[in-house]
Amino acid sequence: MKGLVPIGGRGTRMRPVTYSVNKHFIPVANKMLVEYPIMTLIKAGIKEIGITYNPGQLEYAKEVLGDGRKWGAKFWYILQPEPKGLANIVEVAEDFLKGSRFVFHLGDNIFVDGIDDLVESFDKGDMEGMVTMVEHEENVRMGVPYFDKKGRLLKYVEKPKKPPHKMAVPGLYFLSDSAFGAFRGRNRLRPSARGEYEIPDLYQWMIDKGLRIEVRKYGGMWLDPGKFGDWLESNQYLLDRLAERKILGKVDKDSRVEGRVEIGKRSRVINSVIRGPVRIGDGVVVKDSFIGPYTSIYHGSKIVGCRVENSVLMEGVELDNMPKVIDNSILGNNTLVKSVSQNGALGMFLGEGSRVEW
Ligand code: G1P
Repeated sequence: MKGLVPIGGRGTRMRPVTYSVNKHFIPVANKMLVEYPIMTLIKAGIKEIGITYNPGQLEYAKEVLGDGRKWGAKFWYILQPEPKGLANIVEVAEDFLKGSRFVFHLGDNIFVDGIDDLVESFDKGDMEGMVTMVEHEENVRMGVPYFDKKGRLLKYVEKPKKPPHKMAVPGLYFLSDSAFGAFRGRNRLRPSARGEYEIPDLYQWMIDKGLRIEVRKYGGMWLDPGKFGDWLESNQYLLDRLAERKILGKVDKDSRVEGRVEIGKRSRVINSVIRGPVRIGDGVVVKDSFIGPYTSIYHGSKIVGCRVENSVLMEGVELDNMPKVIDNSILGNNTLVKSVSQNGALGMFLGEGSRVEW
């Protein structure tokens, strides 16, 4: 089986950080988001992976992800000329995928407990397609499966206004060659009202053709860090599950490191307390500070005289003597938060979409 992982799109729900960074490369628990789907596929035995991108995204993706060799896999980079929806991603990847059953794993979804069983059952099965489902309170913003009385999949609708239950289809799709028929001929797929070729419409096309599509419940933990609050929650959950005690940097004798804390190479902790679960990247300086639980700090950041909890600090963030606790925050690359004024006034240089909540 082959794998397909998209890294395209505009990342509008994660602005302002996505003005300069592709959403898929923002860290969650100090790992780039897209690494999770890639690792999940590889762990399930899928070593040939197509990575689809939109114009302007290739160079950085290749630089960071490479050709897959470092993971024992092989990557193909495939251009989707415009972000025209998930079904269009399958269409542009036809040359790479044809002749093989495949898993389409969205680049911004995390299936924390792996997908090994699902991959195995689709690989061995004779159904033409398969989707998973999870329970989700806000399934109005997702794809929703509808069933007949016998529990067979009747239809599958993108973001329905009044879903009949709380189930939704997350970003994991299993398909066979027969899907490509939807892209040709008179009955081919049409764009939806939002102008995209929707993945539920592709499955619907297959259902209407009488092709067998199966639905399986995903029993593990699924995360969708697509927007601010969900990003923090995902960071928290993954730190809880994955952080280990691993200290590569230097911790001085006036500091205390409690619990599952990872500190990367060339990092220094001076006169500070770090309380896990916490992940600190490489080349980070923490001085006269408290770094609380559920915080991840990416490479090259510098924190002096601050208390930081439940937060995601991206690359090169500098925090300098903030009198208030920094809590539930996401700080984009090279953000500087510094206390300079004597009279409590705030001096700001914020870009479009920035938020300061006091
Ligand atoms: C996409 C899919 C939707 C799916 C969701 C999962 O939605 O279109 O069917 O449930 O991903 O994350 P989007 O993120 O484009 O709104």
